[in-house]
Amino acid sequence: MENKKEIVLSGIRPTGFLHLGNYYGALRNWARMQYEYDCYFFIADWHSLTTHADTKDLKTNTRRMVSELVAGGLDPEKCVIYLQSDIPEIAELYLYLNMLAYRGELEKTSTFKDKVRQQPENVNAGLITYPVLQAADILIHRALKVPVGKDQEQHIEMTRNFAERFNHRYGEVFPLPVAFNYGGELVKILNLDGSGKMSKSENQMNTIYLNDDDVLITRKIMKAKTDQGPVAVNSKKPDYIQGLFTLLSLVSKKDTVDKFEEDFNQCRIRYGDMKKQLAEDLVSFIRPLRENAQRLQQNPAHIDGILSDGAGKARKSARATLVKVREAIGF
Ligand code: TYM
Repeated sequence: MENKKEIVLSGIRPTGFLHLGNYYGALRNWARMQYEYDCYFFIADWHSLTTHADTKDLKTNTRRMVSELVAGGLDPEKCVIYLQSDIPEIAELYLYLNMLAYRGELEKTSTFKDKVRQQPENVNAGLITYPVLQAADILIHRALKVPVGKDQEQHIEMTRNFAERFNHRYGEVFPLPVAFNYGGELVKILNLDGSGKMSKSENQMNTIYLNDDDVLITRKIMKAKTDQGPVAVNSKKPDYIQGLFTLLSLVSKKDTVDKFEEDFNQCRIRYGDMKKQLAEDLVSFIRPLRENAQRLQQNPAHIDGILSDGAGKARKSARATLVKVREAIGF
């Protein structure tokens, strides 16, 4: 039997700077998976048009994002890194999948409902079929594992539905992909006031970006929402406090986390001390990533080289899938 590695695919929209949510929800897994699987990682520049019609900064944003991904651990020798817009085969598959996607399910998608609230004046067809394009991204390589954060879970479930429908109607072409995280549970990193998930474009003081400098990281953490502390032992933590503990558990030593957990449980926590420690540990974690990304960005030709190399490999895989798809449909 052929000994092939499982195929992994994931992507990110170039709509802002990379933040800790992207890192812990996605990139950290990607950087580890590249050594164990056949990995494809891409910049979803077509998807960004559903919300960001102005494309004047697209190229700069895309290159910056690739620099951040490489600084965050992706090795272009170990995985395929490419732009969605370089792979026209994805658009063709999107077209076929659109015939298998129904208005009712698309309108019920949580991310769609959020966007309708955020941009009621621009509810375009691309926005409503966003999950179909995402399914095409995944199925074009017949990927099995999709490392993403919690917010993408529903899109992966929809991808499975579209794949199943395709297989049922035209014949078995696609495996059914699953959302993946090494820890088991998918991750959701909260923003600094605990009011929702950390995100690229919402309130910038509530999000820690991998591009933030030391002073800014410290300022954001010191301003993060806290309260007087718990009044009863072993209380449940409010979301905004849990968010800080989650960050602490990601960047600080186990002893440090245990100490603050114990202080919280015994109602003697001093949030000022905890935030100081968290800021210090975040700064040590982010500084090398930021410096590396900035260094890489000074060489756009190198980044373009990574992307054209990646496009070549991704198109080869995409073409092979399309041959099967066209044959199954009966063209
Ligand atoms: P995007 O660009 O919003 O985010 C990229 C990745 O980061 C994760 N993420 C988070 N994880 C935990 N906590 C957070 N606060 C947080 N914020 C973002 C996301 O879950 C994602 O894994 N639709 C996708 C892009 C995409 C895609 C795909 C992903 C297009 N096609 C195919 C996988 C497979 C998106 O908008 O991700």
